[in-house]
Amino acid sequence: MASPDNTADGRTLDLMVRQIRFEGKGINSYELVDPQGEALPPFTAGAHIDIHLKGGTVRQYSLSNSPSERHRYVIAVLRDEAGRGGSKAVHDTLRVQDRVKVSAPRNNFELAANARKVVLLAGGIGVTPLKAMAHRLEEAGIDYEMHYCARDARCTAFADELASIETSGRLHFHFDGGDPSAGLNIGELLHEPAHDTHVYYCGPAGFMKACAAAAQHWPSGTVHFEHFKAPERDLSQQVAGAVGEFIVKIASTGQMIPVTPDQSIADALDEAGVPIETSCRAGLCGTCKVRYLSGEVEHNDCILGDDEKREYLTACVSRATSRELVLDL
Ligand code: FES
Repeated sequence: MASPDNTADGRTLDLMVRQIRFEGKGINSYELVDPQGEALPPFTAGAHIDIHLKGGTVRQYSLSNSPSERHRYVIAVLRDEAGRGGSKAVHDTLRVQDRVKVSAPRNNFELAANARKVVLLAGGIGVTPLKAMAHRLEEAGIDYEMHYCARDARCTAFADELASIETSGRLHFHFDGGDPSAGLNIGELLHEPAHDTHVYYCGPAGFMKACAAAAQHWPSGTVHFEHFKAPERDLSQQVAGAVGEFIVKIASTGQMIPVTPDQSIADALDEAGVPIETSCRAGLCGTCKVRYLSGEVEHNDCILGDDEKREYLTACVSRATSRELVLDL
């Protein structure tokens, strides 16, 4: 099996771009393999990898292929002209046979083990983790339905692979021509919470909002989602330092570390010589998740569930609303 190499930080995999495919308007998929043909570390549906791009940029992309495949990771990247530059860098610089450093897969968007039925809601490029889930559910023989919302057929990714699911009657495409009101009626679909059914959704901001509103009356623990971009309000709060200065205390040493309004907890820890691993720095990936023992937290992330928030924070975007925060470090 391909093992983490020692050339960078000892935690990355050195993979090769084996194939790049045009999947839809502005969307390419990238198949990454071990250069020696070794099996890759396993992953579960909903997992993502960090891709280390030239210039030190790191971006997270969900794995879209079946978790039963051990010979490749497949990601799909929508070129976002208004984005932070990661997707453009992938489109403009990654070529077949290039070597690329990636992290081992991590998963903050796991399929629940006890679901009798699963509803998958994909908005645009948010289809990537849900496609991996569809593969997994097909293979496990678990009942599911998948709704793929996009502007039109040209904007869908993996159309040919998904066609095999569509013939089973489980996949439903919804094309709105750019007018969400002409697309899937998510409120109607999720109107009645179904017994032992779990809902998963991923897509752009408007789609996420619509799904959240439609699923708010579903039982706790049955609705799961993943943002692929931090909501604007969270980023602005982070930049503006919405909450003032506070102190972080390291439980194991008693070290007191001030966090200024324009600093993240992760940055303050780093400066004080207590570095923790980070990746997206936007509250999306969970790499910087830290347990806290006391203090009041303003979370600002997009991944932690309500139960987790009582125990954990993400050091890249969370802030304290109390004077002191004690971290279990
Ligand atoms: S680094 Fe990704 S959530 Fe903090």
